[in-house]
Amino acid sequence: MTSKFDISFARSAKASGGTAIVLKLIDDEAFSGADGLDPAGSLARAARIAKFKGKFAAKMEILAPQGSAADRLVAIGLGKAAELTPHGWLRAGGAACAALGDADKATIYLDMPGMAVTGEQTAGFALGMLLRAYRFDRYKSKKNNDDDAGSADKTVRVTIVVAAATDAKRAFETSDAIAGGVTLARDLINEPANVLGPVEFAAKAKELEKLGVGIEILTEKDMKKLGMGALLGVAQGSVRPPRLVVMEWKGGKAKDKPIAFVGKGVVFDTGGISIKPAAGMEDMKGDMGGAAAVVGLMHTLATRKAKANVIGIIGLVENMPDGNAQRPGDIVTSMSGQTIEVINTDAEGRLVLGDALYYTNDRFKPAFMVNLATLTGAIGIALGSHHAGLFSNDDTLSANLLAAGIATDEKLWRMPMGREYDKMIDSKFADMKNTGGSRQAGATTAAQFLKRFVGETPWAHLDIAAVTLASPTDEINTSWSNGFGVRLLDELVRRNYEG
Ligand code: BES
Ligand code: MN
Ligand code: ZN
Repeated sequence: MTSKFDISFARSAKASGGTAIVLKLIDDEAFSGADGLDPAGSLARAARIAKFKGKFAAKMEILAPQGSAADRLVAIGLGKAAELTPHGWLRAGGAACAALGDADKATIYLDMPGMAVTGEQTAGFALGMLLRAYRFDRYKSKKNNDDDAGSADKTVRVTIVVAAATDAKRAFETSDAIAGGVTLARDLINEPANVLGPVEFAAKAKELEKLGVGIEILTEKDMKKLGMGALLGVAQGSVRPPRLVVMEWKGGKAKDKPIAFVGKGVVFDTGGISIKPAAGMEDMKGDMGGAAAVVGLMHTLATRKAKANVIGIIGLVENMPDGNAQRPGDIVTSMSGQTIEVINTDAEGRLVLGDALYYTNDRFKPAFMVNLATLTGAIGIALGSHHAGLFSNDDTLSANLLAAGIATDEKLWRMPMGREYDKMIDSKFADMKNTGGSRQAGATTAAQFLKRFVGETPWAHLDIAAVTLASPTDEINTSWSNGFGVRLLDELVRRNYEG
């Protein structure tokens, strides 16, 4: 879905019809805005009556304000200037988007009496608007117009008025690229598995070619040749064949080692023969959230022409029970040569990633690898929905990821790894088994499994199972999946690898 906003920036604009939005810091006494916006002082009067001070994301609305050129005036609170973070600007934009309702046309005045808003802040605000406006309603035969962000199929002209308009316009190119990547990730995750199998998912990734991303799609035959017995073992229970997609963005210097992002792409996870209970199983259409984030990230990096060499790799399979499905007790040989006893066919993500990580490292020798995966239910028990689990063999990479998480509010929490946990996946019959054998430290034993496929390369695993599906609704997300990881990793690349 494309954004329903057509956003432009101007240094000044006369109010004329439609909805006008102004921002209000708690610190400021007065409101600001354009000539003719509020000649009768309706905003100040309404604020006294409503006790509107400008608390963050609070809203005050006046219809048909006396003498105003605008039909509707809305004030959005921004809280205290000193407490306003870069992410706060996204949230404020989201709140403004919601306040627009079904407006056809809007003018938003960002500068306040006590604060000249920067281009970066403006771009953040606009990004928040785009993210909030997202909806996934392609299967609704009647489009729903009565919820807060209005209808998806009309385009709303938004003029953002700010003194830093020129800077804002430049910075918005990045916002627009990020919104495109997040939207793509959300669309892929929200799409049901009957529509999006491994082959269809790979075809979606191939569309990135238009942006200059190199795409290679490995079929079952290619993977057999490479010896990817772990990934193929998962896939063999499905009538839909697996794919492995390699995406390459070469925006850096030729001599620079690439960095790599690897995603779990289980288009549907029934659990296989170790079948899952029925309740909530429909959510497993989102078990490709890691792969979707990688595709969304590549989209963003290519759109904004990131100055970095980046590899994206996704392992696409469907985990089904079937006459040909793998059984508990089966032993498979991974591309690395290590053998795996499959204790539980529902611990399939690590089997897919084990081969995908090994392949990535072996072929590209990246400076680091970050994988994203909806890997375990256990991570949600530990951290809930507001931090993804971070597991890593490298302190620098971890610190960079944690910092990017704070900046984007896609927060991470580092979890322990170690020799004792590693021992928990030793197998009686093979080099390792695919579960820890008990529920203890379930997210960590999964991470230890992955670690056995990354060699000495700096690596981080992000367990996003509890953050990207059934995501909490907030100012910038009302979608079932928020597309977690795209903003985080774009920030990681921008901060650390484009210098
Ligand atoms: N895809 C699931 C993990 C998951 C659970 C993602 C809930 C999103 C929401 C994964 O493949 C899985 O089934 N993990 C098992 C591992 C267990 C069998 C060791 C789990 O977490 O129960
Ligand atoms: Mn599973
Ligand atoms: Zn899974």
